[in-house]
Amino acid sequence: MGPIPAVVLVAFLVWAEGSSLRHPHGHSGHLSLKIFGRSIRDSQCQHKLKHLHNGARITVQMPPNVKGHWVSTSCEVRSGPEFLTRSYRFYPNNTFQAHQFYYEDNHCTKPAYTLLVHGRLRLRQASWIIRGGTEADYQLHRVQMVCHTPTVATELSQRLNHSCSGAVRGPWEPGVTYELWNEEGGYNCSKELSFTMHELQLLRVEKQYLHHNLDHLVEELFLGDVHTEPPQRLFYKPSSYQTPLQNAENHDHGCIVCQIISHSDELRPPVLPPRADLAVDLYGQWVSQRCEVRPEVLFLTRHFVFHSNNHTWEGHYYHYSNPTCKHSTFTIYAQGRYSRGLRSARVMGGTEFVFKVNHMRVMPMDAATTSLLNVFKGDGCGAQGSWQVGVEQDVTVTNGCVALGIRLPHMEYELFRMEQDAHGRHLLYNGQRPSDGSSPDRPEKRATSYQMPLVQCSSSSQQSDHSQGDEERSPLYDDCSGQHKHISAAIITALLLLQQT
Ligand SMILES: *[C@@H]1O[C@H](CO)[C@@H](O)[C@H](O)[C@H]1NC(C)=O
Ligand SMILES: *[C@@H]1O[C@H](CO)[C@@H](O)[C@H](O)[C@H]1NC(C)=O
Ligand SMILES: *[C@@H]1O[C@H](CO)[C@@H](O)[C@H](O)[C@H]1NC(C)=O
Ligand SMILES: *[C@@H]1O[C@H](CO)[C@@H](O)[C@H](O)[C@H]1NC(C)=O
Repeated sequence: MGPIPAVVLVAFLVWAEGSSLRHPHGHSGHLSLKIFGRSIRDSQCQHKLKHLHNGARITVQMPPNVKGHWVSTSCEVRSGPEFLTRSYRFYPNNTFQAHQFYYEDNHCTKPAYTLLVHGRLRLRQASWIIRGGTEADYQLHRVQMVCHTPTVATELSQRLNHSCSGAVRGPWEPGVTYELWNEEGGYNCSKELSFTMHELQLLRVEKQYLHHNLDHLVEELFLGDVHTEPPQRLFYKPSSYQTPLQNAENHDHGCIVCQIISHSDELRPPVLPPRADLAVDLYGQWVSQRCEVRPEVLFLTRHFVFHSNNHTWEGHYYHYSNPTCKHSTFTIYAQGRYSRGLRSARVMGGTEFVFKVNHMRVMPMDAATTSLLNVFKGDGCGAQGSWQVGVEQDVTVTNGCVALGIRLPHMEYELFRMEQDAHGRHLLYNGQRPSDGSSPDRPEKRATSYQMPLVQCSSSSQQSDHSQGDEERSPLYDDCSGQHKHISAAIITALLLLQQT
């Protein structure tokens, strides 16, 4: 864990294998798709996953250059739920100014209050927990708040008058800046608001040229994840990322939201364009848009197929050992039923579902994982000692796979929402996994925030192709990404050790 070399490294989604991969019938490109050879014969979905692996040229800066102005690309949802947008500026003298704009609604059209945070950031070293990330320290200089409506001003001042009374010296007014904390201090309102900037402890900057166009650079800043239990946020060290911010100068041209946010401040909070909630319609097939990170070192991509005729789903989870999802470690195929519940009373814009996993197959993709599976004695994961690289086994009969921490049958309480992105594509969000590594196996543990969205790659769960999905109708989706989280820490540690030798 020494200091990071001065400049550096380039990671490439895709490029290395270069041209052969880009052929539709290229060899290696097929690997992950053929794996389960089942209902994945959808060429659009194949293309999407391949594009993720082989498409855009992405470079990762190590250490990251975070200087500049970074903004949210959409209305973000944190556990609670909290609806917010972010606008962060990092200056050449290593100080930063961060705006967090909070809202009353899930489309970020009604600003409630804004936190304005000043501090100093110091990059430390390449993260040895999350490969591809960089660890940093920060120091706060000042935290301020501005309320945007009389009601919010009254509510917040009453709440804070209780718990950090120094901050409230009289009734609060909207549009006025109040100190929640400063270095001279005396009081500290972080606890009452579960506020921290620990997200600055883990950073990653990616650059990519959209559509292979050298004139269209998009820079993204990934900051650390936020604990799913608000009171735990003060003590949590990030181990994955939130949805990335984009550079206000180099953002996707279609990102109207980026423009609105970049021209805002604490007195003129961004008001995003109003939109209707899309009814969740899971029907069809959905894939990851990028290599995703799960807390505790798992990198993966997901592909789901929902059959609304019989309310069943299939999920393919491709796991990797590196942050660009190139080195396969193992894949899981899961299958089960789902049922749609009500609109969430707790999370505006969310819809509840219940998912069951009844069948599962596992395929180790590298020697390390294979030997790990073989080390486990007994009948807890397929036929003992019989695992081979690239050979899939059904683990349904052994009630899952102890070695991977997966027990069958398994049930999860889910939260979904759908959205259309700036390019009109349907995005599907499912619930963020609990940060403590457990699974949402009881209704009270249902998520109040979301993971990175999946994009619709086919509006059909069969081969034929209907036109793009329309609103409402049948449901369905899954996420058994639960699985990944269940993988015990011990296994992960073992995998890491093996892979490093
Ligand atoms: C750092 O730079 C910013 C922007 O130029 C400036 O506003 C701030 O006062 C500087 N801070 C220090 C401590 O020099
Ligand atoms: C804060 O609390 C004190 C005593 O509990 C009360 O007298 C005062 O009116 C409160 N101020 C506001 C702004 O609510
Ligand atoms: C404020 O309090 C929280 C916990 O109560 C603590 O973690 C944090 O360091 C404090 N902030 C400052 C700037 O002292
Ligand atoms: C559900 O329907 C799909 C598509 O019609 C089919 O492929 C699948 O086998 C069915 N599953 C079950 C359990 O009936």
